[in-house]
Amino acid sequence: PTNIENICCIGAGYVGGPTCAIIASKDLDISVTVVDLSQPRIDEWNSSRLPIYEPGLQDIVEAARDGSGLNPVTLHFSTDVKGAIHRADLIFISVITPTKTVGVGAGQAADIKYVEAAAREIAEVATSDKIVVEKSTVPCGTAEILRDIFDAVGDPQVRFEVLSNPEFLAEGTAIADLLSPDRVLVGSEGTPSALEAASALADVYSSWVPRERIITLNIWSSELAKLSANCMLAQRISSINSLSAICEATGADIQEVSHSVGLDKRIGPNFLKASIGFGGSCFKKDVLKLVYMAETLHLPEVAAYWKAVVDIKNGKRTALAGTTVDGKRIAILGLAYKKNTGDTRESPAIDFMGSMLAEKATLAIYDPKVSYNKIIHELGELFGHEAVARYVKPCENAYSACRGASTVVIMTEWDEFKTDRLTLPPALDLGDLTASRLTTPTVKRADSVSSGIPSSQSEDRSSCDDDGLLSPGTPPTNTNSPAPELINQAQ
Ligand code: NAI
Repeated sequence: PTNIENICCIGAGYVGGPTCAIIASKDLDISVTVVDLSQPRIDEWNSSRLPIYEPGLQDIVEAARDGSGLNPVTLHFSTDVKGAIHRADLIFISVITPTKTVGVGAGQAADIKYVEAAAREIAEVATSDKIVVEKSTVPCGTAEILRDIFDAVGDPQVRFEVLSNPEFLAEGTAIADLLSPDRVLVGSEGTPSALEAASALADVYSSWVPRERIITLNIWSSELAKLSANCMLAQRISSINSLSAICEATGADIQEVSHSVGLDKRIGPNFLKASIGFGGSCFKKDVLKLVYMAETLHLPEVAAYWKAVVDIKNGKRTALAGTTVDGKRIAILGLAYKKNTGDTRESPAIDFMGSMLAEKATLAIYDPKVSYNKIIHELGELFGHEAVARYVKPCENAYSACRGASTVVIMTEWDEFKTDRLTLPPALDLGDLTASRLTTPTVKRADSVSSGIPSSQSEDRSSCDDDGLLSPGTPPTNTNSPAPELINQAQ
């Protein structure tokens, strides 16, 4: 099909939901249906409480999903995967591509079974021509696997065109990124019919993206460009963190170093803030995807180079372990891996809490966008429901988390933690902080790691966006109460 009237997106997640909401709000002639296997997730998308938090998302979804004034209903959420595939001219595959946990390549290679399952479903259901678009971040070469599935399973009368259109949005700024992308990649196999399909997809984006930012390229370049972008961003974070370790040992100040280096126009300031390493669902797995690809291509030096990016991150994080906190109350401010999202996947807060729970600390946790149930459920799955019921106390705000705490750990750079601390009520009872201050060398190290962490780097644009960073390490300015020790950690 060269004129797209009906779009289906398989996977109603952090990428599928916001991306389709924007398409549906910009292309009023196109009907967009986002499908998912998870009934609760779809129910939430159809409710006033969306399953993910993104600034600006709610209004856009509601306008397109419910229609308003002269605007028609253009956005639908459903679990009827087959029906939506059947009707669609163009289908985005936007399911997860995690790291394989078993079999060949376990711990590094991408598990593309969800992408394959979606392709098989499309092949089985389609009775008319389809443009199938890889939206998920996949290893270079995945399009060929999809092509094989369509050739083997699909109706020979149906033409399947496979395109690569990776997503570069960053969680927390997804709507702004989607509305004004640095570039949109449309990769195709380059045959006349593939180029026609690429042009149809480019037309969809051209409703709001300037044509010069829509790049058509070969499909393997497109797949690899997305992986490469994430690897380069992760590499910058690991590079600055490796230098912060040298600062700690020499007395140099990483903030001064990073600022000075970033002023060089050839380098630039983004993604140069020291932290305890990147979090989020994508950077680690995407770097490991590249490592595994390099290994299978017999490029051991290339694999070792990129593997170091992940190893440096892990080294930073274990610097926090081993603190003696038995019986103490630790306030954890923020659980999401960065501000303006409720996503906790690969959040450094989780690693940290695991080590604190092992030490039998009581954890008073508050995050503006992570619900009580999610905290209890996710930590229970990871660390055991019994330990979580006993030691984890989700709190309704930062003040109640901090009350009586010996230590306050800011894990996420939410703005409210920066601004509210200037207005801490004088009556706030922070407990016997001086008596129970943590003074172990490990915590001091964590503190000094954090002292190099500047405020949010929200101006940064990352693809799978795992850039979250922390607020500066100054204690609350509550003059009437002793301040808790603040450990600021970046993600
Ligand atoms: P997600 O986990 O939020 O959403 C994936 C959804 O797909 C889930 O709701 C799941 O139930 C559904 N699903 C899985 N298999 C299905 C099937 N066969 N049929 C129907 N639904 C199915 O994942 P997220 O974060 O949206 O990531 C998707 C892809 O986008 C990944 O490859 C990721 O690397 C990439 N990406 C993610 C970004 C991010 O910031 N989260 C940014 C750019 C790319």
